Amino acid sequence: MAYRHFEFIEKHVWTLGILTAVMVSLGGLAEITPLFVEANKVQPSEGVKPYDPLRLAGRDIYVREGCYLCHSQMIRALRFETQRYGAYSTASESVYDRPFQWGSKRTGPDLARVGGKYSDEWQRLHLMDPRQVVPQSNMPEYAWLALTLIDGKDMQARMRVLRLLGDPYTDADIKGAPKAVAGKTEMDALIAYLQGLGIDNEPQVPAAAASAAAPASAASAP
Ligand code: HEC
Repeated sequence: MAYRHFEFIEKHVWTLGILTAVMVSLGGLAEITPLFVEANKVQPSEGVKPYDPLRLAGRDIYVREGCYLCHSQMIRALRFETQRYGAYSTASESVYDRPFQWGSKRTGPDLARVGGKYSDEWQRLHLMDPRQVVPQSNMPEYAWLALTLIDGKDMQARMRVLRLLGDPYTDADIKGAPKAVAGKTEMDALIAYLQGLGIDNEPQVPAAAASAAAPASAASAP
């Protein structure tokens, strides 16, 4: 009896096609739905706050300039990674990242914990012309970022949208945005963003050990 059903399905290509699509969709739903439910359960880890206006502007520049094409922000839970970069990344660190910047390509080093590793001045020189500070670097220069000011009104609009999406910005945060970015260039914003990366959470590996194991010249290692 069952055999006859199979024979019917196998001999009618449209029936076979539709039933296959139904089965694949059910399988897909069974795999994907729990992930969505899980994602909503991820809570920000302690100390992780939504980006302040300047860092938020910097983050958007990071995305706009495609820094993620050469830099990941995801330290894997492997010994050689944590020794080089610091504590491994957790999902709760990225709750305010839309889209997240984990990345997968490392032409340059991972940046998840680069905050505080160098001075602001180093970051500025490096972005103006990477070869000034790392002679063998093949990172492009971003000198023009110093020419454009951040628009405070624009940041307010972005913060309002993020609030709609669930980021806990207060009215005062949004009201204060133009003041927080007044007179700041895109370069300042990007540096503020970089300097904030990874400093909000407790590294499990002492920072000194992590940075000692991360010479800039070893950049091409995955
Ligand atoms: C074409 C690939 C490429 C792109 C695009 C790129 N970088 Fe880099 N980056 C590198 C390489 C290679 C290094 C290592 C050599 C050096 O320090 O310059 C590096 C190093 C860095 C470092 C120092 C990291 C450390 O731990 O020493 C920072 C910070 C950085 N990049 C930020 C940025 C930012 C911000 C952008 C986007 C505006 C960007 N990079 C775009 C390739 C790239």
